[in-house]
Amino acid sequence: MGIEETTAPAAVIVLAAGAGTRMRSRRPKVLHEIGGRSLLVHAVTAAEGTGPAELVVVLRHERDRVAEHLAEHAAEVTVADQDEIPGTGRAVQCGLEQVTASEGTVLVTYGDVPLLDPATLRELVSAHEAAGAAATVLSARVPDPTGYGRILRSKDGSEVLGIVEHKDADDAQREIDEINSGIYAFDLAVLRDALGRLGTDNAQGEMYLTDVLAIARGDGRAVRAVVTEDVMMVEGVNDRVQLAQLGAEMNRRILERHLRAGVTIVDPATTWIDADVSIGQDAVILPGVQLHGATDIGEEAVIGPDTTLRDTEVGAGAEVVRSHALLAVVGARAAVGPFSYLRAGTDLGAEGKIGGFVETKNATIGESAKIPHLSYVGDADIGEGTNIGAGTIVANYDGVDKHRTTVGRQVRVGADNVLVAPVTIGDGAATGAGTTVRKDVPAGALGVSAVSQRNMEGWTLRRRAGTAAEAAARAALGTDDESAARTPAGTAADEHKEHEQR
Ligand code: UD1
Ligand code: CA
Repeated sequence: MGIEETTAPAAVIVLAAGAGTRMRSRRPKVLHEIGGRSLLVHAVTAAEGTGPAELVVVLRHERDRVAEHLAEHAAEVTVADQDEIPGTGRAVQCGLEQVTASEGTVLVTYGDVPLLDPATLRELVSAHEAAGAAATVLSARVPDPTGYGRILRSKDGSEVLGIVEHKDADDAQREIDEINSGIYAFDLAVLRDALGRLGTDNAQGEMYLTDVLAIARGDGRAVRAVVTEDVMMVEGVNDRVQLAQLGAEMNRRILERHLRAGVTIVDPATTWIDADVSIGQDAVILPGVQLHGATDIGEEAVIGPDTTLRDTEVGAGAEVVRSHALLAVVGARAAVGPFSYLRAGTDLGAEGKIGGFVETKNATIGESAKIPHLSYVGDADIGEGTNIGAGTIVANYDGVDKHRTTVGRQVRVGADNVLVAPVTIGDGAATGAGTTVRKDVPAGALGVSAVSQRNMEGWTLRRRAGTAAEAAARAALGTDDESAARTPAGTAADEHKEHEQR
């Protein structure tokens, strides 16, 4: 969707200098996360969505830590530093020092208001510019306006006279249920001028940004309010109760977006999807699923139940059941789980299979290749159509270095193998059950390492006398006398070998 030129503001200033003490956290408030992003990145993303020429974030509390986070996640923003003069008015004034434009519309938003969306900001800019206003505040009517600044209107309600802070309001003003969200559109020149005239003669001794409205009106300029019906969208996070509430609300909104786009989500109450996740049409998300980060689910894939995927790509028509994956790729129509763990660098080809109780890491598994049961495959390349037998382990780590294992196409690795890396098994080769593969197996060869089996007749009767096993053996052998224990195989020499083998 293109942004109309007329509604793109000259600048957005995001206020994030406050300490956020009610979070009771060592982490700066705006770096707390919901929906897979920090509060501040949500705020910056909404601001960016309006296509501003300049985007400034005002910092003070934990300035370096927050600036570093911005450099990593929103490199295009300019950081402005607020000095020791407190108040939202001073914060905007410090922000404006970084704005090079001298005219146009400036939006002011907060770094701790995560649900605000670009469409609402664009509507605010449009309404503001259409009215030729000096200032337009985004307001909301709320059941409990305690603590908020109240919107003061003319008797007939058509004009905004100004904003009074809760702490400065008289009893009649405290009855007003229309509150200031803290989000505004300003005429840049008016804002610069009015900020220069702000005092601190108020209950908090701060420079109030809210006073700009009355100043502009006093100068004969139009001041307006746009009332939003969506109260959650303008709500800020002050403590962890609100963080959880807005996190749940954000999740609800993200799920609704996917549902409306044609994704089946069987149980929204137990499904958590981050803001940056994408999901194809007709995918099915079963109960108990968490999709995090940049996870991408293909069309008609089935995920869950009880599956967590982070930064993982799942191809069209694939199925992932009761599993956990991180930085993995699951090919189209492939199957994973139940109960498997796909670690970073797992790349399962189309129609491949990672079955039950399998852990994989840094492994390329070819098309239609299968690791069906109870295996660990790390630092390996498995060719197309190959089958890895149950219980096979790739021993990739010699205690000092990790080595790579290569298994060719259409290989049959027997059950319970240990592939000691670095080792290569050629195309079309096979290995016997229980093989410890320490040497390369050439293409088309059968590799075996297990010693040939020897049976020591009557061992249980001699060495496990008095046990249930002995009774079972005797019953099976049909010998209730002592003769079975004295079969030719049961010689003293054999007993000695048994000891040595332990
Ligand atoms: C402010 C408004 C109030 C409005 C409310 C909505 C003023 C004077 N009051 O209240 O009318 O109803 O927001 O939440 O503007 N900040 C700075 N620097 C500062 C102070 C604040 O950057 O010196 C930032 C904070 O980090 C926060 C935002 O501004 O993101 C709002 O600050 P906060 O103290 O929560 O709001 P109030 O001043 O109580
Ligand atoms: Ca607040």
